[in-house]
Amino acid sequence: MRLIDRYGREITSLRFSLTRKCNLNCIYCHHEGEFDDNEECHHEDDESGISADLVVRVAKVASQRFSVRKVKFSGGEPLLRRDLPDIIQHIRAYEDDISLTTNGTLLSICAEELADAGLDRVNISIDTLNAEKYDIITRTKGNLSRVIDGIHAAISSNLTPVKLNMVVLDLNKDDIDEMMDFVRGLNAEYGDDSVILQLIELVPFHVAESNSNDAAGFFNKSASGVSNVDFREIEEMLRLNAKAMATRPLQHRRKYFIDGLTVEVVKPMDNSAFCMHCKRLRITSDGKIKPCLLRNDNLVPLCEDEDCIAERLIYAMKLREPFYCEKNESPPSRPR
Ligand code: 5AD
Repeated sequence: MRLIDRYGREITSLRFSLTRKCNLNCIYCHHEGEFDDNEECHHEDDESGISADLVVRVAKVASQRFSVRKVKFSGGEPLLRRDLPDIIQHIRAYEDDISLTTNGTLLSICAEELADAGLDRVNISIDTLNAEKYDIITRTKGNLSRVIDGIHAAISSNLTPVKLNMVVLDLNKDDIDEMMDFVRGLNAEYGDDSVILQLIELVPFHVAESNSNDAAGFFNKSASGVSNVDFREIEEMLRLNAKAMATRPLQHRRKYFIDGLTVEVVKPMDNSAFCMHCKRLRITSDGKIKPCLLRNDNLVPLCEDEDCIAERLIYAMKLREPFYCEKNESPPSRPR
């Protein structure tokens, strides 16, 4: 059976948040980060997170019963999970594509082990190449060089195409050119399309503690440099430089093919197109199915038994509906 929702959208991928913990504390992230300077790979066990067994069982059920054969891991920071290589190894046989989104700080010591376990590719968050701005955005000190080492390690371990996620803020919008040059340099060094740049529109989530109903207002007041950037100018610049363009079906992402690199534009707040093409179900770090990125009032708790998991996936799929909100209007806060 295929998982097709009431709007004809087929679920083709699962996105698991494996932990709430993160060793960075990015200004635009709703998450409370905790910095931990222990340098070991997978140095922390998050006992409160969804169990490895349950992740494997859900991935297996989704693959075997519903042909969902793409999995992405995120967090928090998924590399903080000690059992990540194990999880990847156990689901490898069920999946066509296993990827993860990481801040890259621990990747230089984990990349090879993860590739050996069966990971296909990684997305790495890097919003600027300016070390001072990186510290401001991540509210930590001195991690940028580790992330750059992590990018090289990921490419060398064939976790490609490596996608670099750049959330575009007021603070870093002038760094796009430099980032494009960086990606061009990596592609020249390692081969075409080793690295793809993703420019991501800010989702103005409330922080959990905020009781303001105006997310734009919250961001403007509390963190200078964090506010919505108009993507029209950015896309105009990309269009002028591009040899060709394409639109990826997943969430209607536009791709610009420029000399020496590909740039993808991800606009979650442009939600009519984003929602229409959404093919994901998310699993929260405390084991609930989350039918929509932008809302938290329809979470479906998972269960242990495979038949029950299958039923819950079908139920969650039926709850999926496009979530509309006006641009600059706030989506609800996430349940954290
Ligand atoms: N807006 C847009 N993207 C975000 N991310 C995290 N918080 C936000 C936000 N407020 C994305 C970034 C990061 C990934 C882990 O999550 O792309 O790379």
